[in-house]
Amino acid sequence: MNTVTVDLSKGIGTINPHVYGHFLEHIGGVVYDGVWVGRDSKIPNDGGIRLDLVESLRRIKPAVIRWPGGCFAEHYRWRDGVGPADTRPVRSSFWRPLDGKVESNQFGTHEFVRFCRMIGADPYFATGVAEIPATEVKEWVEYCNDQAGTTALAKEREANGSRDPFDVIFWGIGNENWGFGGNIAPDDYASAFRRYGTTVGGLNTKILPTFDGERSGTADDLDAKLIACGPSRDDYDWTRRFFEKWSDGTYGKFTRIYGFALHYYCGTAGTATEFSVDEWYTLVAKASFMAELIDRHRAIMDEYDPERNIKLIVDEWGSWHPVGSGPTKNAYQFEQQATMRDAIVAAVTLNIFNNRADVVAMSNIAQLTNCLQSLYLIHGEDFVETPNYHVFDLFQGHQGGTAVQTRVDCDQVHFKIGNEDRAMPSLSCSASSKRERVTLTLANVNMEQSAQVKIVVKDAPNATIVRQIHLRAADPHDHNVPSDPNRVIPREVEGDRQHGLDLTLCPASVVLLEIQTG
Ligand code: AHR
Repeated sequence: MNTVTVDLSKGIGTINPHVYGHFLEHIGGVVYDGVWVGRDSKIPNDGGIRLDLVESLRRIKPAVIRWPGGCFAEHYRWRDGVGPADTRPVRSSFWRPLDGKVESNQFGTHEFVRFCRMIGADPYFATGVAEIPATEVKEWVEYCNDQAGTTALAKEREANGSRDPFDVIFWGIGNENWGFGGNIAPDDYASAFRRYGTTVGGLNTKILPTFDGERSGTADDLDAKLIACGPSRDDYDWTRRFFEKWSDGTYGKFTRIYGFALHYYCGTAGTATEFSVDEWYTLVAKASFMAELIDRHRAIMDEYDPERNIKLIVDEWGSWHPVGSGPTKNAYQFEQQATMRDAIVAAVTLNIFNNRADVVAMSNIAQLTNCLQSLYLIHGEDFVETPNYHVFDLFQGHQGGTAVQTRVDCDQVHFKIGNEDRAMPSLSCSASSKRERVTLTLANVNMEQSAQVKIVVKDAPNATIVRQIHLRAADPHDHNVPSDPNRVIPREVEGDRQHGLDLTLCPASVVLLEIQTG
């Protein structure tokens, strides 16, 4: 028997709702088709934005969306995407050499903010530093946030249809600047960030450096929350050298920073839909590596920022399979299918974030529609929620809860990566509490065998399972397609409240338990 012990007396921290965030890039079919169909489309829409997507997203309470890239953001000129639709320029884009597509700019700042408002998410804008001047980024901030009527940019926004400010709080300064964002060395990027931060953050902040260089207030007091480009996966050198420069001995620590954003794609093993048992576990093991990445990058950050004023963010994560598995067979760049294996990757990763609620302030799975680890595959009238979507649905109760410690005593699964024998725990879990309700999410990563699990809630003798939802597939390779969109969907276990806390998890399944403790 496997045992999961929930210790309500050991709080980890509040789970920031922004951990349940998404990413929307102008690439392939993510925006055009995925979100935007245009005002004249026969697909039901509100001002060009698809209503099927809005309705579905509202159900899972997306907390934040990062836009417009990705690599695309490094080259994006925001002025191209405002003003009358028929005057917006068609441009080449970063991705054109790969997919031959041009950018119509029909979906710009106003459309994105409207989309966020429709689904209740905070907008997170990503800007460029390699080619885009800091003043241009500053003007974008002013265009979005200046009070009505106060400046020329606020008046221009009003003339374009939005009198009220957009109140965009999150601004990412650069994307993957160690790669396609200019191939900049970490110390040089840190200098660029200081420069952009000074211009873009300006005095528009409640926290200012004092004369001796110390900050007053915390990152939460910032009203422009600037997010720096962090490392790719285990590039610890990037983190150390960035923070070395950030805390420069001559000029002092640079205070106008909210977050530092790691990117980690766990990649693939086999293909999106064809994989062996060993390949199943290989991908889950790669996803689990997220825990070590967070712990080690945070440990380096702690050397420079022991008070943890700067938050760790994971603003791109997910599986990345060989191209061609999606419905358009790679007509949409990076579009891939999502099986129950991807659902396990999502569950394991979100459990890792919940268990580090004191460290991880935001995350953005890549990407929302028609791309890498997507929640949706949408083409014209075809609208499919993938197993990834259902994981976000099952996990939504964690948002804003207090993450509490769990102890897992479980079997190991054994597998091979190449010739190497490997083993890892067969269960992943996290728990959070709100009032007298515990949300417990479990993944049985064992592809072939079910798991008997006993749940123990310490010091809560009356603990009762009041809701139980299981996401599983007849075959772990299963995925949802337009002709069979409900092949992999969650099912609620009907019946009376369960007073015992023993249950069976099917192979390759994700489970939500809501437990009443009072
Ligand atoms: O998500 C696709 C791409 O992956 C993003 O544009 C880039 O930031 C990352 O390398």
